[in-house]
Amino acid sequence: MAIKNPKVTVVGAGNVGATTAQRLIEKNVCDVLLVDIVDGIPQGKALDLMEARPVELHDRKIFGSSTYDATKDSDVVVITAGIARKPGMSRDDLLKTNAGIVGGVTLEVVKHSPNAIIIVVSNPLDVMTHLAWLKSKLPKEKVFGMAGVLDAARMRFFIAEALNVSAEDVQAMVLGGHGDQMVPIARYSTVSGIPITELLPLQKINEINERTKNGGIEIVNYLKTGSAFYAPASSTATMVEAIVQDRKRVLPVATCLSGQYGLKDVFVGVPVVLGQKGIEQIIELKLAPEELEALQKSANAVKENVAKLTELALV
Ligand code: APR
Repeated sequence: MAIKNPKVTVVGAGNVGATTAQRLIEKNVCDVLLVDIVDGIPQGKALDLMEARPVELHDRKIFGSSTYDATKDSDVVVITAGIARKPGMSRDDLLKTNAGIVGGVTLEVVKHSPNAIIIVVSNPLDVMTHLAWLKSKLPKEKVFGMAGVLDAARMRFFIAEALNVSAEDVQAMVLGGHGDQMVPIARYSTVSGIPITELLPLQKINEINERTKNGGIEIVNYLKTGSAFYAPASSTATMVEAIVQDRKRVLPVATCLSGQYGLKDVFVGVPVVLGQKGIEQIIELKLAPEELEALQKSANAVKENVAKLTELALV
């Protein structure tokens, strides 16, 4: 059953957060509360989006706040707060800064909404999701990360482009952490049910796999001062919609595994059923030995970064 009058909060009113909010209201999914540490930004963006309502033709409401009181009893909270990696910044620096932000935001979120479902978007994604889960003390099915929908969307677009077919008819499977060790699986990627291995030469598939893995950095190299936000926002809004409308969508999501794929207590992207309870089922695909090995390698990289949180006393 869809959640009646869902309360959805998006923390971080920057590029990803504000665009996610825009997608949600303009697609008539739900009203949105936008929260940011910088007073004025969420209020100003919310007002700007409300002023677009007469033109975009919807009646969804969006509010802005720089405090958490207004977030009370949210059903779903999306965390996009954090900084993007800047030139000269190491991944460890990013991890440290965003861990401080995401940890603090999570505590505020659960203080006001102890039963919320939390979707983490801040990077490094899998580690930040693990951190939010630990800080929130919520059950595993209620804290997860947005990455697989985005990675798969990128792969779907590249396949559609290569075959000159509608992206709507293309499905793609990308497993693992949201980093350069993610695992695109061509065997499970299809065009209207036809595996792409039947449609594209191996060399082209390999190129698509590599481009998918580097999808984030390709955009950063263009933008220089920030990272991707349109496709991340679309992907996040899709997950929110699946939850509030109890769609039971089958989507790749960063979730905490408990034995599936031979992995335990680590957040990585795998297909799940997403509905109003959050993660309602984890789907365990049959993988070839080399695919499983690649997934486990990707998960090990996530585990190493989670260990850094402990070393830095951030958990
Ligand atoms: N509480 C609330 N908001 C915060 C906090 C905090 N403690 N710290 C930072 N913010 C806000 C910033 O004020 C800013 O408005 O988070 C927002 C981040 O927005 P952008 O800098 O535009 O970054 P964006 O492109 O949206 O990316 C956000 O998502 O995809 C990931 O890697 C990306 O980690 C990054 C995050």
